[in-house]
Amino acid sequence: MKNHDIVEKNVGLMVVLILVAISFGGLVEIVPQFFIKETTEPVEGLKPWAAVELEGRDIYIREGCHVCHTQMVRPLRAEVERYGHYSVAGEFVYEHPFLWGSKRTGPDLARVGGRYSDAWHKAHLFDPRNVVPESNMPAFPWLFDNILDGKDTAAKMSALRAVGVPYTDEDIAGAEEAVKGVSEVDALVAYLQQLGVLLQQKR
Ligand code: HEC
Repeated sequence: MKNHDIVEKNVGLMVVLILVAISFGGLVEIVPQFFIKETTEPVEGLKPWAAVELEGRDIYIREGCHVCHTQMVRPLRAEVERYGHYSVAGEFVYEHPFLWGSKRTGPDLARVGGRYSDAWHKAHLFDPRNVVPESNMPAFPWLFDNILDGKDTAAKMSALRAVGVPYTDEDIAGAEEAVKGVSEVDALVAYLQQLGVLLQQKR
């Protein structure tokens, strides 16, 4: 009882003890996440993005595709029936930054890989009305004119390796060669075609 009086009459001490009490609550919730295998282990077969796909991903970010499209299938029946297997943490361990998004002006793209042909994607990106007459997605015709030189690709891969993405020395050495001369649209489509393929399920 006496100790409690001391705490109650000393605001500074009480603030410190409240912070300690709250941080326990936080730690109990957060710390186990780092050790649960499911959230830190890649799903089977997960590979880092190939050089061209990595550039495609950067174009996806640059063009703001993630502003209209999520990449996160929630574990709800309606979503799983529409998009395929719900997203799991192990699919995203090499994602820096992740592109889960929060706004669905267009459909979720987490499992769009393999759903359409490359030709469909190119027609769609050139002008979405080509293949979806009622679409209000913007057109991205400049992706067809811009050609990548691959000069920064190796540096991007090294940076990702520094935060734990397992690129090999060969991956990095061959990056510029792999990317040089590829059009932006081809890089973007290469990226889209790999999205979510590991846990694809027949729909
Ligand atoms: C202003 C919002 C908006 C932006 C930005 C946008 N989209 Fe879309 N997207 C849509 C809408 C709406 C649809 C649905 C109509 C259609 O298929 O065109 C769609 C559909 C799609 C589809 C077909 C998905 C499916 O399952 O049928 C793909 C693939 C796609 N977008 C890729 C992209 C890419 C790549 C970018 C960036 C270069 C992008 N979108 C930017 C709104 C957007």
